[in-house]
Amino acid sequence: MNTMSEVLTFKDVSVVRGRKDLLKDVSWEVKEGQRWIVIGPNGAGKSTLMNIAATRLHPTRGTADILGERLGKVSVFDLRPLIGLSSALVANSIPANETALNVVLTAAYGMTGRWREKYEKLDERRAFHLLHNWGMSTFMNQPFGKLSEGERKRVLIARALMTDPELLILDEPAAGLDLAGRESLVGKLAELAADEDAPALVLVTHHLEEVPAGFTHIMMMRDGQVVAAGEIESTLNEANLEATYGMALSLRHEGGRYSAFARS
Ligand SMILES: Nc1ncnc2c1ncn2[C@@H]1O[C@H](COP(=O)(O)OP(=O)(O)OP(=O)(O)O)[C@@H](O)[C@H]1O
Ligand SMILES: [Mg+2]
Repeated sequence: MNTMSEVLTFKDVSVVRGRKDLLKDVSWEVKEGQRWIVIGPNGAGKSTLMNIAATRLHPTRGTADILGERLGKVSVFDLRPLIGLSSALVANSIPANETALNVVLTAAYGMTGRWREKYEKLDERRAFHLLHNWGMSTFMNQPFGKLSEGERKRVLIARALMTDPELLILDEPAAGLDLAGRESLVGKLAELAADEDAPALVLVTHHLEEVPAGFTHIMMMRDGQVVAAGEIESTLNEANLEATYGMALSLRHEGGRYSAFARS
């Protein structure tokens, strides 16, 4: 059995808008079982890349193979249930009055807003179970719009897992969380990373403190291009950080966690 099957195979992917290259010749391979971090400055193209991986955007040039299917040659509606996505864009598309349970439940049908009334009991149980897993079951009847930032992030991750996807993309899941909220989320993501049955993971973050233990690979981006990509141990170093952020940074790696500061 092929235990390292291809989740994402991007070859020379470019996205052009007007005269600007949002992505330029990005090649990237994500395989089953891998846990990827994506970092880079504001505007580097991280979310653009995630939107391609989540079939929300097509490349202008190059090819994007997602779970063995070429984007553009297959119906995105067949692929989407296999990909869980949590991002600001997803959060903004959810009606404020939708309950936490329904936010998770409606993912089973790839829609936001509970306009289809008939749900299988099984789906309802799974949605509740996921909310419970992410510490949110007591909020199941709370409207999404009334939840705190951290509570919303957890509901969004539960939602992204609802279809039991083969790829889970989390675009800045810890943004806006307080210190305890961040640490608790990072701990949960480390658990997910350690779970053999978990999908391939891609986590976009701005802070190395948010890299959970157990993540295996890193993609470092700047100006729509790949600065470096590969195993985190060998790729995340001060030279690549400086090339990514254009600033001399000192990197620390202690107890399975990373941090970085300006070098003085
Ligand atoms: N439709 C569009 N037309 C033109 N430019 C766009 C469009 N969408 C995004 N951009 C630009 O593309 C660049 C990359 O955006 P993207 O959202 O991918 O960056 P990012 O790395 O996710 O940044 P951040 O860390 O701030 O979230 C930005 O400069 C943005 O302004
Ligand atoms: Mg972004």
